[in-house]
Amino acid sequence: MAKSSVFLVLFLHFLFFAYLSSKGVLGQSPVFACDVDKTPDLGDFGFCNPSLEIAARVNDLVKRLTLQEKIGFLVNKAGAVSRLGIPSYEWWSEALHGVSYVGPGTHFSNVVPGATSFPQVILTAASFNTSLFEDIGKVVSTEARAMYNVGLAGLTFWSPNINIFRDPRWGRGQETPGEDPLLSSKYASGYVRGLQQTDKGDPNQLKVAACCKHYTAYDLDAWKGTDRFHFNAVVTKQDLDDTFQPPFKSCVIDGNVASVMCSYNQVNGKPTCADPDLLAVVIRGEWQLNGYIVSDCDSIDVFYNSQHYTKTPEEAAAAAISAGLDLNCGSFLSQHTEAAVKAGLLNESAIDNAISNNFATLVRLGFFDGDPSKLQYGKLGPNDVCTPENQELAREAARQGIVLLKNSAGSLPLSPTAIKSLAVIGPNANVTKTMIGNYEGTPCKYTTPLQGLTASVPTTYQPGCSNVACATAQLGDAKDISAQADATVLVVGADQSIEAESRDRINLQLPGQQELLVTEVANASKGPVILVIMSGGGMDISFAKDNDKIMSILWVGYPGEAGGAALADVIFGYFNPSGRLPMTWYPQDFADKVPMTNMNMRPDPTTGYPGRTYRFYTGETIYAFGDGLSYSKFDHRLVQAPDLVSIPLEEGHICHSQKCKSIELFENSCQDLAFDIHLRVKNMGRISGSHTVFLFSTPPSVHNSPKKHLLRFEKVFLTAQKEELVKFKVNVCKDLSVVDELGSRKVALGSHVLHMGSLIHSFNVKI
Ligand SMILES: *[C@@H]1O[C@H](CO)[C@@H](O)[C@H](O)[C@H]1NC(C)=O
Ligand SMILES: *[C@@H]1O[C@H](CO)[C@@H](O)[C@H](O)[C@H]1NC(C)=O
Ligand SMILES: *[C@@H]1O[C@H](CO)[C@@H](O)[C@H](O)[C@H]1NC(C)=O
Ligand SMILES: *[C@@H]1O[C@H](CO)[C@@H](O)[C@H](O)[C@H]1NC(C)=O
Repeated sequence: MAKSSVFLVLFLHFLFFAYLSSKGVLGQSPVFACDVDKTPDLGDFGFCNPSLEIAARVNDLVKRLTLQEKIGFLVNKAGAVSRLGIPSYEWWSEALHGVSYVGPGTHFSNVVPGATSFPQVILTAASFNTSLFEDIGKVVSTEARAMYNVGLAGLTFWSPNINIFRDPRWGRGQETPGEDPLLSSKYASGYVRGLQQTDKGDPNQLKVAACCKHYTAYDLDAWKGTDRFHFNAVVTKQDLDDTFQPPFKSCVIDGNVASVMCSYNQVNGKPTCADPDLLAVVIRGEWQLNGYIVSDCDSIDVFYNSQHYTKTPEEAAAAAISAGLDLNCGSFLSQHTEAAVKAGLLNESAIDNAISNNFATLVRLGFFDGDPSKLQYGKLGPNDVCTPENQELAREAARQGIVLLKNSAGSLPLSPTAIKSLAVIGPNANVTKTMIGNYEGTPCKYTTPLQGLTASVPTTYQPGCSNVACATAQLGDAKDISAQADATVLVVGADQSIEAESRDRINLQLPGQQELLVTEVANASKGPVILVIMSGGGMDISFAKDNDKIMSILWVGYPGEAGGAALADVIFGYFNPSGRLPMTWYPQDFADKVPMTNMNMRPDPTTGYPGRTYRFYTGETIYAFGDGLSYSKFDHRLVQAPDLVSIPLEEGHICHSQKCKSIELFENSCQDLAFDIHLRVKNMGRISGSHTVFLFSTPPSVHNSPKKHLLRFEKVFLTAQKEELVKFKVNVCKDLSVVDELGSRKVALGSHVLHMGSLIHSFNVKI
């Protein structure tokens, strides 16, 4: 009796492990529908027929489902329908800056133990290199497909995060491309193009499906008792249309993204996931999204249970679906949608619409085409993950993003042959996980700053603080090694314990006693001191800016798995730094005076509110948007620019008889009106380097317009003493327009001032 029960237990164990491996838990086979090799009958279903149009396949599938089955396709853990050969599909995977383990759809295993971990997005954005954004997206989607093929990842990735970095305290600012609508738009469309690669042959075939989030005006997590689940963002029509919406619009229209995610917060009293104007009218109607709208996890539960936006859960379900939501991250819709239909709050046709958008996306991913190994991307596998080329791109991205903020003569680059000893100090000097920020995956490997620097010169090391909180700095040993070394590199800053999801900052200064550590070490140092700030948000480091012993300052964001190698490349001059700040660095005073909850972008002189971002902020900065030095000097010369731009208006236009300050954008006379700006840019230095040319414009002061906004940027590589002509085509309607108080775009008449480096050029726009 006893013996046979032992055997039974062993046998059950055997069955259990056989079951696990057949399910791909150990990473073997991908999840897909229409496996006609195994079940030939499935080939009779229209939805399994790749030669039919997408809409026909989707209709065929929807027609075959019961109401309960349909409801199962409204949530991220989508239901299985075995009679139709459809397995359960997990929609939630993430790939913010590399394939991530955040989200239940993706896992690492002994088959794929890690993926390339690129710099956190805020640093990649600092490269201002649009082809880099796309190249990173391509590598990430290659690794994602490779992991899907071995059953370790999904096909739908809820990245990128393209919210405007409105306030320096935001814990998730690190995930975003910064504060500027144009840079964020270029990042969004570029990264999404790389991920989806819809440009490769058939635009209806997706490599993976990306998702732009969190729509919209979401940029507060938890600050002094206000959290994202309860926050009502009060946003003017003007700010919505010229600051918060443009990245999403560009993501959908230019990037052709397959999904948009609505946020937790309310905008002007309505939860974004229950607002038909924001979802159905704008995303689906005006922007013509080809894909699905998904909620944050779990926004519907949040607006019902935390915001009490509806009286019953059925009303909440109906409100979300009626507003245009297609997929619920969470389980709220699987619990309450059927009752909503029974109560007459929702028609089944609305559910059909929603799941059709979800199915159409899966069709475009090849999910209903049978065995993926026979399809495009089917040959990708573990050998395509963490390749030397992919890891080199992670290092390259970090190098291109790193920003040199201060460099007194005779400091950087350090000569790797002249430096016989380098003191490396600080709580972030030898960190690994800190470098990859949040929404991370397991990286291929790490190179810490200490390891990167030690590869070139002999080093000594003292952390100086036991962690970034740095309650008590350990000054003695740190000062000693600095006093003996030829040069000192201090790596300080933040990590996810300081700024993170659900964690906004109060303080903009270096945490704890880090400032004391830096000052004391600098005073004790023998050689030049290089201060390296590793952080997502900007820091008030005025103390270091003004300290003559701190000769150089670098900001390295969270630089990814190869961050230490990239830092060493810059410090020793193997790479000429070219990153520029994608956000304003404010003084502590800003955080003391300005409530994070005030969404207004524009200053208000009556209350002393200073406004936000370089476009509007009127106060002092520590460092400004676009700041960043090089080891070379670059010179700009204006070659071509207009002095006058005339907008032809039809006879009888009201502005002929009456003095107008601006004209409506839809006037077709101005649609194709464009002019060229030509600049000659020269590398005056002795080493090669890349340089970002910014074209800013100050419009006439009508409609409370920005004091300056970025019209174009272009990054050029120039060898020593070389020059190049940089050409910008400026569209009068698109680029010179401003958003008026009611949210419509208008071209301001009068004097516009262009800024290009230190060059200034004015021209008049008249009718
Ligand atoms: C932009 O990035 C790409 C890599 O994606 C790189 O090859 C190129 O040199 C960069 N451009 C400039 C001007 O630095
Ligand atoms: C359901 O459809 C009917 C017929 O088209 C329509 O009259 C009704 O308003 C719809 N109900 C809801 C809740 O949308
Ligand atoms: C630096 O970090 C690496 C990786 O965590 C570790 O292996 C190494 O021991 C550390 N070096 C020192 C000197 O602490
Ligand atoms: C700098 O160090 C010297 C000793 O070398 C000391 O006398 C002085 O007080 C220090 N200054 C600061 C600001 O710590």
